[in-house]
Amino acid sequence: MKPRRLLDEPSRPYSFTPSSAHGLRLRVDILPRLAQFCSPWVLIQAAAGRRRATRACVRAGPLAWLVLACTLLSAFPGCVSVCRKGSEAARFDIFARETFKRVYPLLAEQILTDYQIRDGLCLDVGCGPGYLSMEMAARSELKVIGVDIDPEAVRIARRNVAERKLADRVSVEQGDVHSMRFEDNCADVIVSRGSFLFWKNPTHAFREIYRVLKPGGVAFIGGGMGRGITPEEKTVLKAKVDAAGFLMSCRGTFTQVMMQETLEAAGIRHYKIMPDGPGDSGCKCGMWVEIRKPAG
Ligand SMILES: C[S@@+](CC[C@H](N)C(=O)[O-])C[C@H]1O[C@@H](n2cnc3c(N)ncnc32)[C@H](O)[C@@H]1O
Repeated sequence: MKPRRLLDEPSRPYSFTPSSAHGLRLRVDILPRLAQFCSPWVLIQAAAGRRRATRACVRAGPLAWLVLACTLLSAFPGCVSVCRKGSEAARFDIFARETFKRVYPLLAEQILTDYQIRDGLCLDVGCGPGYLSMEMAARSELKVIGVDIDPEAVRIARRNVAERKLADRVSVEQGDVHSMRFEDNCADVIVSRGSFLFWKNPTHAFREIYRVLKPGGVAFIGGGMGRGITPEEKTVLKAKVDAAGFLMSCRGTFTQVMMQETLEAAGIRHYKIMPDGPGDSGCKCGMWVEIRKPAG
């Protein structure tokens, strides 16, 4: 039997994970799960007679209202995703700055060394707080444009770029990988870390990336920490990524075969799929694809 196709399906709704500016976190993504247990109780009460259920709710007080809120949250996940957006970007910024602080410089160095691209235009798609964009610019003569769909991520990235005094070579704008404002064949290098699992239609997104890539240019798209991070460090960092729960809103699995199918469907012929580092399985977030657009 053919496995269920996960490509080009909308990703699962987000969990709601607000955080204050001070990093105080209140995780309420457990609420919809709680609702799964509580909803039958509410339904039974309702079936037993509306008045009795209402009276029970009033008597039970806050607990009943919490149950009701959980039920509504699970019934309308869309409203949860709207609440989540801004705070998730802020939470990821703190995580990236503290936990991944060695990942971005090493990854940028790996990309620049492997492809020997030192100047021209670099796009960082799904740039989030902009740390890879900044490292690419700081280690080369590249002009970098970070693109992210989330306005809150764009605001945070702009602030980070200004703090690092890189605003003359790094700019950040809101945009969707599925329809970028850039003209055909304009980018010398396109990078994207940790974003493709969130794309609604990866085939469409890769086609768009290929359109924008210059002939002779290279795109390095994927997820993971790069070869510079040791396997021991990776184990620790992976556990921290899992604990932070950032991947909850992304598609669950993206194997090498799925990546191959996606690229073929996008009409891309010159590509190489590789694991994050030696010994990595090359699936979920630890996978990269190198795309080359033949010159001429
Ligand atoms: C896990 S974060 C990674 C951020 C950054 N690349 C990094 O490694 O620090 C994923 C980012 O992809 C962005 N994203 C998701 N879907 C996108 C889309 N369709 N177009 C552009 N950005 C998108 C999200 O808003 C989020 O900032």
